[in-house]
Amino acid sequence: MYLYVRGVSMQTIDSILTERREFMPEQSFQSSANISFSDYQELCRQAEEDYEGFWARFARENLVWGRGFTRVLNEEHAPFYKWFEDGQLNVSFNCLDRHLPHHSAKPAIIFEADDGQVTSVTYADLHQQVGRCANALKSLGLVSGDRVVIYMPMSIEVVVAMQACARIGVIHSVVFGGFSAKSLGERIADAKARLVITADEGLRGGRTLPLKSTCDEALTYPGTETVEKVLVYRRTGGDVAFFPDRDLWWDVLVSKQPSDCEALLFDAEHPLFILYTSGSTGKPKGVQHSSAGYLLGAILSMRWVFDYKADDVFWCTADVGWVTGHTYVAYGPLAVGATQVIFEGVPTWPHPGRIWDMIFRYGVNVFYTAPTAIRSLIKLGPDLPLNYDLSSLRLIGTVGEPINPEAWMWYYEKVGRSRCPVVDTWWQTETGSHMIAPLPGACLAKPGSCTRPLPGIMADIVDDKGQNVQNGQGGMLVIKKPFPSLLRTLWNDPERFQQVYFPDNFQGRWYLSGDSAHRDADGYFWIMGRIDDVLNVSGHRLGSMEIESALVAHPQVAEAAVVGRYHEIKGESIVAFVVMKGTMLTEDEADVMALELSEWVTEQIGRIARPDEIRFGENLPKTRSGKIMRRLLRSIARREQIDSDISTLENPQILAQLGRACATRSP
Ligand code: WTA
Repeated sequence: MYLYVRGVSMQTIDSILTERREFMPEQSFQSSANISFSDYQELCRQAEEDYEGFWARFARENLVWGRGFTRVLNEEHAPFYKWFEDGQLNVSFNCLDRHLPHHSAKPAIIFEADDGQVTSVTYADLHQQVGRCANALKSLGLVSGDRVVIYMPMSIEVVVAMQACARIGVIHSVVFGGFSAKSLGERIADAKARLVITADEGLRGGRTLPLKSTCDEALTYPGTETVEKVLVYRRTGGDVAFFPDRDLWWDVLVSKQPSDCEALLFDAEHPLFILYTSGSTGKPKGVQHSSAGYLLGAILSMRWVFDYKADDVFWCTADVGWVTGHTYVAYGPLAVGATQVIFEGVPTWPHPGRIWDMIFRYGVNVFYTAPTAIRSLIKLGPDLPLNYDLSSLRLIGTVGEPINPEAWMWYYEKVGRSRCPVVDTWWQTETGSHMIAPLPGACLAKPGSCTRPLPGIMADIVDDKGQNVQNGQGGMLVIKKPFPSLLRTLWNDPERFQQVYFPDNFQGRWYLSGDSAHRDADGYFWIMGRIDDVLNVSGHRLGSMEIESALVAHPQVAEAAVVGRYHEIKGESIVAFVVMKGTMLTEDEADVMALELSEWVTEQIGRIARPDEIRFGENLPKTRSGKIMRRLLRSIARREQIDSDISTLENPQILAQLGRACATRSP
C-alpha cells in the first residue's frame, strides 16, 4: 500500500545510523532551569489530561488581554482552527508597553552594524519609535487588515516597522533582502500590498545591496499596482532613484510623527503576518499566522526552550526575512522583555572570528544559529572559537536543518565548552515556534536528535495508513492535535492549505509536516529530512540525513548532500556531493578521497549506504536561508537540464561547478 503524499509514495523509512553519545545538563544548570524534569512531566500530564485547559492557562498567564477569552478552541471548521477567538489583545502592547512600568530603561536591542558601529535602544526608546512609525502608517491611510510588504536590511528600524504594523492591525509580509525583483514583485502582488517599506541600500560584509532599485524594478511587475507608496529608510545615503509622487523618506515622514500611538485591541485570530515560504516546488506559499496563538508560542518557547532569564543577553542570528527572525528577533525576545543583539553583517567578515568576538563583547548568554552557519564556521577554522572568551554563554541552539552529530559535537565542545546545553529545535514557518526541542534543564541530549515534543505538542510518527511505526523505523512526522501557534491558512489559498497540511488520508485532522523522522527506544525524535528527499535503494527507503551525517563525521569533510539516481537493479543509487575542509582537491586526490569516503560510509552505516558516485565542490547549492537544495543536485546527478526555478538559490554559480566536477565513481 502506498500513500501519495506531495508527489511521493510513502512507506516507512529505514533508519541506519546509530548515535550513542548522551549528555546531561550540568547540575548547576538543572537546578536553576525554568523547567525541571518533574515540571516537564507534570506539564505533559496536564496537557494530556485537559488539553484546552492547559493552553487556556498559559494564554492567560503569558499574554496581556484587553478582553479576556471565554472560548479556548473552536474546531467547527477544522482544519481552520480558532484559538481564544472571543479574546482581544494588541501584540505590540504585549511586546513593548507591558514592560514600561518597570523596565523602560532596559536595553531592548543592541544593534551592531556591518562596520562595527553600535546603536542601542531601551524599551522606552523602542516604544516611541514604534509609536512614530505606526502614526506614519496611519497618516498614509493604512487601516487594520491592509497589507504592507517590508523589504529591509537587519536593523532596529525593521523591527520597528513590523511592530508598528502589529500596533495598528496591519498585516506585514517581510521579504528577505536577498530576494530578486521578481520574487519581491510576486509576493507584493499576491498580498495586494498598499505600501512597501524598504531602504536605500543594505550593507553586508562591506558590500552594498541595492534594495531600493530592486524594489523599483519589482513594482514594474504586473499585479503590483496596488502599491500606493514606498517608504524608504536611509541606511547608507547612497544615490537611489526617488519618485516624489510615490516615494517617502522614513527620516522625513516618521520622525515628525507624535510618539504616542494607542494600541487598539484586535481579535486573537486577527492575522499578524504573512510569510512566504518557497518550499521545494511550485509557487511560494503565503503562510498566515494569527495574533494571540502565535505570540503565545513565541513566549512559551522563549521561557521553556531558551530558559529565558531576566538578565539574559539573547542573540538569534537569523534574518527577519525568515520565520526564525520573526519569532526569535521581532516578537519572542521583546514579548518576554529580553535584551537582544541584532547584527547587520555576516558572521565571518571582516575576520572569521567576528561572531565569537561579538559574543564576548556583549556577554551573550543564549546564542541561536543554523547548522549551515555552524558547518561553515568549522570549515573556516575548527579551533577558532577557542581563541575567544565565551564564558558568558550558558545555552546554545540550532534550527533550520537536521544538525549532523559531528557538527553538534563541535558546537557543544568548541563553542559551549562542554558546559552549555545545546537545544536542537525542530519547527517550521508553519508551526510558528518550537515544536520538538529539549527543555535544557530537564533533558538528556543526544547529538543529532531534537529530543522530544514540547508539552502540549502531540507529535507522532506514522506510516501510510496512519499507524504508529515501530521505534527505529522512519515515517511521516505528524502533529495530531491543533496547537495555538500553527498557521491558520495560506493567504488566498485555503484549498492548498488543506491539501498540503491536512490531507484527507488522516481524516483531514492531523497536521502533516512534510518531514520524515524516527523515534528511538527512549522516545527521542530524529529528523531524517524532507519526505521528498527520501532515497529508495534496493528496496530500502533511506533518509538523506543519515548518509550525510556519516560523511560529515569524516575528519576532512565539511558538508555533504546525497541524492538518488535511477539504477536498473537497485532502483536508486546514491550520489554524494561533498565539500572538503580546506582547499579543493586535485583530480587525483579526488579519486583517492572518493574511495576513502565510500569505505568510510560502508564502515559507519553499511554497504547499503555506499555512494556510487562522489562529486566534490567548493560549496553546495543552498536557499537563501541556508538549506541545501537537493532538488537541483538530483538534476545534476541525473544529468538533466535544470529548468526549474532557481531564483531562491543563494549561489547559482555552484551549479556549473558541480555539473563539471570530476564525477568519481567509487568502485
Ligand atoms: C527543517 C525553520 C531538523 C525541517 C524554523 C523543517 C529541521 C524545515 C530543524 C522548516 C531541526 C528545521 N532539525 N530539521 N532542528 N529545524 N528543520 O520553514 O525540514 O524555514 O520542515 O522553518 O526545516 O524550515 P522553515
